[in-house]
Amino acid sequence: MPLPLPSQEELAHSQLLHAHILQHIQASPSHSISFYDYMNKALYEPYLGYYVAGKTCIGTEGDFITAPELSDLFSMSIAQHCLSFLQNEPHSTVLELGAGSGKMAATLLSYWEAHHVLPAHYYILEPSPTLKAQQFTTLSTTLPHLIARVTWLEHLPESGFTGIIVGNEVLDAMPIELLRYEHGQYQQVQVTEQNQQLSLITQPLPSYLQPLVAQLPLPNIEGYTTELNPQLNAWVNALGALLTQGFLLLIDYGYAQSDYYHPDRSSGTLQCFYRHHVHDNPLLYPGLQDITASVDFDALTEAALKAGFHTADWTTQAHFLLQNGLAEHFQQCLNESPTQSYALAQQIRILTLPAEMGERFKVFRADKGFEVK
Ligand SMILES: C[S@@+](CC[C@H](N)C(=O)[O-])C[C@H]1O[C@@H](n2cnc3c(N)ncnc32)[C@H](O)[C@@H]1O
Repeated sequence: MPLPLPSQEELAHSQLLHAHILQHIQASPSHSISFYDYMNKALYEPYLGYYVAGKTCIGTEGDFITAPELSDLFSMSIAQHCLSFLQNEPHSTVLELGAGSGKMAATLLSYWEAHHVLPAHYYILEPSPTLKAQQFTTLSTTLPHLIARVTWLEHLPESGFTGIIVGNEVLDAMPIELLRYEHGQYQQVQVTEQNQQLSLITQPLPSYLQPLVAQLPLPNIEGYTTELNPQLNAWVNALGALLTQGFLLLIDYGYAQSDYYHPDRSSGTLQCFYRHHVHDNPLLYPGLQDITASVDFDALTEAALKAGFHTADWTTQAHFLLQNGLAEHFQQCLNESPTQSYALAQQIRILTLPAEMGERFKVFRADKGFEVK
């Protein structure tokens, strides 16, 4: 199906970002920038990038839907999972990374309030000013009496805390390096321009990428294209340094390494979302579309263990939700709104069926400084 066309206003916005990217390419001695730099600009360039320029990204009016936007049942299971830790550590802090519209934060806080285990602080780290404003509106409208507990951070907290760090679909929104096997070796994919048109080229791997690429079980197949998150270790290290006692809970789509770098996955996992259409051209409409890559959960596990977490493991979203009261949450919501039975059943279907979100999405947890009793 053809992609919908952007409005004149949207096109003008995208052209501004396009011109900014062209300037960087033209200023570079190689006349190209890494795909990582391109993706970082396309998503996060101040005032222009997809996540920061004020566009509605998430939900029916946006480009994609996430589990907390789809159903409160998802966030209720996350809230239940955290319950026993919060009961044991009543002065805990919760830090949510990339909180989207604020819907998950609202459901978590109201669930914990109903169970008398509210954390002392709920921090949100959100790079997007638009989403920050949306989160404030969501939380101040639905939970005005709890808004004083919520603090928006500009960067990770300076000092460590006891608590929980949670993020849904944050890792997949991080810029990645694109790699391609050509002429008998892996190369770095870069973005260049010709006659002001963006295109992809390959260049020899720069030295900082060589050790990272050497660790991956990559197949040597001409044309094989894949991704690597070069920030992963540093990011998980920073999160590990923050938690004196507690756990990290990250939900995202992705695979074990053997599946991620399977010879059959020859075009990688890069996907672009534009008004609920999925396609594979990241150079189209910079600033107007989301660009994502799946998560390598083995690399994430290894990074967590190196960062001082003593356990790190992951399971499928379906398994996690069912283990954390999905059926009871369904019954509770049904009792509160009996007319919603069809809608709730549909939500469960999408959250748990293998062909929907149930198996492609995984829930990763890493613990530090305490033993689960
Ligand atoms: C795909 S959206 C998911 C939003 C929300 N968690 C949800 O599930 O609806 C990705 C979010 O991650 C944020 N993000 C990207 N990089 C981040 C980082 N390094 N730290 C915190 N948030 C980040 C984006 O601004 C955006 O809010």
